[in-house]
Amino acid sequence: MKKKRIGILTGGGDCPGLNAVIRAVVKRAVIDYGSEAVGFIDGYSGLVTDNSVTLTYDSVSSILNMGGTILGSSNRDNPFEFYHEGRKDPADESGKAVEVYNKHGLDALVCIGGDGTLTIAHRLAGIGINVVGVPKTIDNDVQGTDQTFGFDTAMSTATFAIDKLRTTAASHHRAMVIELMGRTAGWLTLFAGIASGSDVIIIPEIQFDIDKVCDFVKNRNIKGKKYSLLAVAEGAVSRNGKVITREAMNTRTGLPRLGGIGTFLSDEIENRTGIVSRPTVLGHLQRGGSPTPFDRILATRFGALAAQLAMEGVFDVTVCLKGGTIEYFPLDKVANNPRLVPIDSEFVRIARSTGAYLGD
Ligand code: F6P
Repeated sequence: MKKKRIGILTGGGDCPGLNAVIRAVVKRAVIDYGSEAVGFIDGYSGLVTDNSVTLTYDSVSSILNMGGTILGSSNRDNPFEFYHEGRKDPADESGKAVEVYNKHGLDALVCIGGDGTLTIAHRLAGIGINVVGVPKTIDNDVQGTDQTFGFDTAMSTATFAIDKLRTTAASHHRAMVIELMGRTAGWLTLFAGIASGSDVIIIPEIQFDIDKVCDFVKNRNIKGKKYSLLAVAEGAVSRNGKVITREAMNTRTGLPRLGGIGTFLSDEIENRTGIVSRPTVLGHLQRGGSPTPFDRILATRFGALAAQLAMEGVFDVTVCLKGGTIEYFPLDKVANNPRLVPIDSEFVRIARSTGAYLGD
């Protein structure tokens, strides 16, 4: 009987735990199903250009705790709008993706990525590729799963960074504004803000009022709290609906490049209150490093189920975490639909009830 074959790719921004998923998919496919695996390099780019590597039990050994992805990733390449080197306009190369998939004799393709990668995976399912998704991202904004892998590690990195900024803020009686990633979702900022005991937590889902934020910091100072920690999400939205971006819309991703709110807020606080303020942009540090044990286990559970679904023929779904159990969820419900923090969520309530100001 022909051995079954699984393809694997990692798309979108990298995050800790990608290698743990790759390892789990390959090892389970080999151990429990006697099947073979092939990895595509740099996300969907490798699928379109047929840039691949054979993945064996041995080649995925010792990668469980490694950050990044051994397969490389790309957050620009989309088979349906593919930009060839040196060409200005995109071409629809989805037919090429199907051709490469068939050429490798694949029974399924495991797409590990965030909402962008999973949205494309769903479109590929529509043209005959048997996809299974695995939800990754430090932003934690994928529908259908209580948590993505990578989030716990990024949240821990951000929390420890804010802890370090606390001591220098206290020594110099300053306001410290810490800008976190997360795109349009506030999960990372809210969780790191709660875990670090930040005084102000500003997330995209709750519009902030700059006058009130400055008054809050000033009043703390008057009351004898001589320093303040402000955790602010890169996608923070002000009362007038403005988001600070670093450049106009990127035509290849269709997304604006966020960033700059930390410096803006820090300057406003210093200018309006006279309190010395410093911004820190945590940036890509949040995406790096070794996954936490929680993320290693979540990634391994996700990868193991993804391999099983691929072998059992359950397609056009993504694995997910639901109330502690690993399950699966239809990909069409994930597509173009980021999961935001509900403003009445328990986490918002406990942040407020334990003294954090949410800027509104
Ligand atoms: O989606 C993950 C993420 O790190 C976001 O939090 C951030 O806005 C974006 O990717 C940054 O993308 P890039 O690495 O392309 O600058």
